[in-house]
Amino acid sequence: MKIVRTEKEHIPQIARIAAESFPDPWTENGFMSSLDISGNIFLTASENGEAAGYIIGTADGDFAGIDSIAVAPSFRRQGIAKELICRFCEIAAQSDSCSSVSLEVRENNLPARALYKKCGFSEIGLRKNFYSAPRENAIVMNKMIKEDKLC
Ligand SMILES: CC(C)(COP(=O)(O)OP(=O)(O)OC[C@H]1O[C@@H](n2cnc3c(N)ncnc32)[C@H](O)[C@@H]1OP(=O)(O)O)[C@@H](O)C(=O)NCCC(=O)NCCS
Repeated sequence: MKIVRTEKEHIPQIARIAAESFPDPWTENGFMSSLDISGNIFLTASENGEAAGYIIGTADGDFAGIDSIAVAPSFRRQGIAKELICRFCEIAAQSDSCSSVSLEVRENNLPARALYKKCGFSEIGLRKNFYSAPRENAIVMNKMIKEDKLC
């Protein structure tokens, strides 16, 4: 499995993974336009040329945030999401001013909360009714990325 910068040709498979993973997935156009946004970190886990998962977020100045991560159902529980987060944090840490990565996660998404904890994130807050369809609270999580050991 390789982690690579996302290219246009990955997008149809990534949109399919998102559709299999979320009730309100990003569209193919949404993923495509985010390829052009400066400061975005958009990575694909590629297994024999097939996209197995992706992570997308921003590292801009002091701020880094993960906006979306998903792994195709047939590739789950093989460490792919952990590897994507690790690589994301390494890239964000290359910016001198960026000291932490943050994210929001649905309160009921226990697999994702367990994943982020395993990757060294701490739960630092709650945003009431942050999500719609279905309406749900968000847990805010944060990880310092200027430590010796990132992954
Ligand atoms: C959450 C998700 C990205 C995890 O991807 P993954 O590649 O299967 O995760 P990993 O194999 O890297 O798991 C790393 C650790 O996370 C935790 N974890 C992952 N999936 C889990 C699950 N279903 N239940 C409990 N813990 C889980 C475990 O601690 C796991 O380590 P272990 O396998 O040694 O026990 C994947 O289930 C997914 O795409 N879900 C739908 C989309 C989603 O919810 N994205 C997050 C939105 S905030």
